[in-house]
Amino acid sequence: MKEHKEPAKTVFVTGGSGFLGWNLVKALKDHYRVFAGYYRHPFQMEKVKTLKLNISDRGEVREALKKIQPDLIFHTAALARVEVCEKDKEAAYRINVEGTRNLILESPKNSRFIYVSTDLVFNGKRSFYKETDLPDPLNFYGETKLLGEVVTAENALDYLIIRISLMYGFGNNFSESFLDWLRKTWTQGGKTKLFTDQYRTPLLVSEAVKALREMATISAGREIFHLGGRERITRYEFGKKFAELYGYPTYLIEPASMVDVLTVNMPVDCSFSVNKIQNFLSFTLSDVEGGLRKLYKEDQGESPVSKNSG
Ligand SMILES: NC(=O)c1ccc[n+]([C@@H]2O[C@H](COP(=O)([O-])OP(=O)(O)OC[C@H]3O[C@@H](n4cnc5c(N)ncnc54)[C@H](OP(=O)(O)O)[C@@H]3O)[C@@H](O)[C@H]2O)c1
Repeated sequence: MKEHKEPAKTVFVTGGSGFLGWNLVKALKDHYRVFAGYYRHPFQMEKVKTLKLNISDRGEVREALKKIQPDLIFHTAALARVEVCEKDKEAAYRINVEGTRNLILESPKNSRFIYVSTDLVFNGKRSFYKETDLPDPLNFYGETKLLGEVVTAENALDYLIIRISLMYGFGNNFSESFLDWLRKTWTQGGKTKLFTDQYRTPLLVSEAVKALREMATISAGREIFHLGGRERITRYEFGKKFAELYGYPTYLIEPASMVDVLTVNMPVDCSFSVNKIQNFLSFTLSDVEGGLRKLYKEDQGESPVSKNSG
């Protein structure tokens, strides 16, 4: 049994309007006093105090954190679109690196900072990356997220860096997840090109949220953790499993190679080893089939088996 800290009372989630942040805020709001930041997409949620905050503006960050006085910060805000980061490097640096620095430097000294990073800090030349493996990002998004890690390690007193694999689940109206995009396209009869040559360890967003909540209370600090699902898989195979479970025809999925679709360098294999984080969690991270079934239940309130047989 791992040691745990006193639970935080006031929590600040940056990127509350984003895919991960919104799911996280939803899960925290009944247990903590929750403040959630947004930038371009105002949103409201019962029991949550939402605020507009540009994390790149140090003065705004100072004012906000002086008022909130959080015990715990989940920093999920980022310019998270790989191709946009490559096109607008200045914005990517300002948000992902300077934004992270602003938050840490203006946080109360005794607060805990959880920095959400990515599997794209690796070059993808091997499989099942461990926390001890050396990062070597291939694109500017990965580079800025790695610099955010460095800024965190150099400036925060009590922090965890949690690198997350490709997440799946459903978001809100204004942040489109990978599955939101597949579902929307297929519902309109459109086809989607999915990579057969990139391996990840996809993670159900509700498990990401649960793990982040649990990790926030561990007494160990100043450490890196890899958080992903149990199974290494390509987007193409993942898409087929999703389509089969949700009843979409698999001919809507076209196999594609990354080089034919992307204008940005992407790692071929950035699958994670999740052994380290698994030791700290109260639940077992799912494989793809298990995660998709869980998602179906969360989404529809029943299991796919009972729906099909009913
Ligand atoms: N999605 C994945 O599969 C995945 C995988 C690994 C790691 N991650 C990491 O997980 C985190 C969340 O990703 P996501 O997919 O949830 O991203 P997302 O849906 O694109 O959300 C990004 C969030 O950042 C906010 N933001 C952007 N610029 C900002 C600024 N200047 N000031 C304040 N907030 C700003 C956005 O606010 P507005 O929308 O209101 O402008 C939004 O809430 C990121 O750190 C990302 O690097 C994601």
